Amino acid sequence: MTAATTNVAESGGQEHPASSASASAASEVERLLRPDLRGRTAYGAPQLDVAVRLNTNESSYPVPRDVVRAVMAALEADIAGLNRYPDRDFTALRKALGDYVERQSGVAFGADQLWAGNGSNEVLAHIVQAFGGHGRTALGFTPSYSMHSIIAETHGTTWVHGLRERDTFDLTAESAAEQAAEHDPSIVFLCSPNNPTGTALPFEVIGAVLHAAPNAVVVVDEAYAEFARPGTPSALTLVADHPRLVVTRTMSKAFAFAGGRLGYLVAAPEVVDALRLVRLPYHLSSPTQTIARVALEHADVMLATVEAIKSQRDRIVSRLAELGAAPVPSDSNFVLFGNLVDAADTWQALLEQGVLVRDVGIEHHLRVTAGTPDETTAFLEAMTRLAPTHVRPAAGQQNPAAPTTSTEDQP
Ligand SMILES: Cc1ncc(COP(=O)(O)O)c(C=O)c1O
Repeated sequence: MTAATTNVAESGGQEHPASSASASAASEVERLLRPDLRGRTAYGAPQLDVAVRLNTNESSYPVPRDVVRAVMAALEADIAGLNRYPDRDFTALRKALGDYVERQSGVAFGADQLWAGNGSNEVLAHIVQAFGGHGRTALGFTPSYSMHSIIAETHGTTWVHGLRERDTFDLTAESAAEQAAEHDPSIVFLCSPNNPTGTALPFEVIGAVLHAAPNAVVVVDEAYAEFARPGTPSALTLVADHPRLVVTRTMSKAFAFAGGRLGYLVAAPEVVDALRLVRLPYHLSSPTQTIARVALEHADVMLATVEAIKSQRDRIVSRLAELGAAPVPSDSNFVLFGNLVDAADTWQALLEQGVLVRDVGIEHHLRVTAGTPDETTAFLEAMTRLAPTHVRPAAGQQNPAAPTTSTEDQP
């Protein structure tokens, strides 16, 4: 056995040479790291092997067989061409995205108004690389999608935590405009429907922010738009009139395609052109372009589960309300709920019952994704069991959550 593999027990409690080497490597890396990155922890929800995984707002439904077959056939034709770089401008994919967006929103866009990346996170990073950076400020209204601030800060942009109403998480046009005017940001992030709170923004917030922040690119992150309640307008309808407005979307949520890693945005052609300055060449591989394009050709099948997911979401909202767990109204495929004695305790107790949800760091709150009817049942049954001890009783009331013969077994 070499010195490097000697363990502590065998060496009579001496320090492990390998661990002391890794400790010194860690401090060396810490010394070399950009000062503004020191001490940060990497973003990411736990990927645990649990029966019911409702923590990352993916779809619980697998890609339909017909689409799998179509993708395989298209990929087969593609693979022999992998000796060549992919189409740098992903022309066919942009056309397919444009067609989908038009069908979904009723607004037509040219392919030169579409841009895509490996997930909308990459598209958001392109925006920050092009319009943020050192000496510039990005503003978001928290709680919101935490990658907005992480992407901004890791690209050297100063982040300003704008505020929402404390208890309802609402954001009014007046408040958003006032905060935007105060900070004169280079980028404003709006998120509608908002993650983690779930609700769509009042539409007038977008116009108010565009007006109040004349030096900003205004990003409306619509990752969950397809789940919004009927009548919820999309910021896509404003793009033609506002050259500083960017609407980002993703195939990871309603499209049930998170593993495919395809996010996109719609903006003025000039904004899209600016993003070419910062993207790495050939950033979308040929298989990614092909898989996404074929999936878009099957949009109706891919989106077939959206209504079923919305009905599970509504079921979660109504049962959690009965349990006194203060669900926030949702336009998404998830529900934020509150009134918990201790969110971390409830998260752990749910995990012990085989249900993984998300602790988003808001006191007394957790977030749960709407899954299949069976998954929703597993979550609601677990919550029904936990509620008597985990949900705070309303003032002057017995806990409303005393076990009943509930509706939990009904999807
Ligand atoms: C609001 C919001 N935007 C963007 C994303 C990123 O999605 P993706 O990179 O998978 O497209 C997420 C993922 O959870 C999200 O919640």
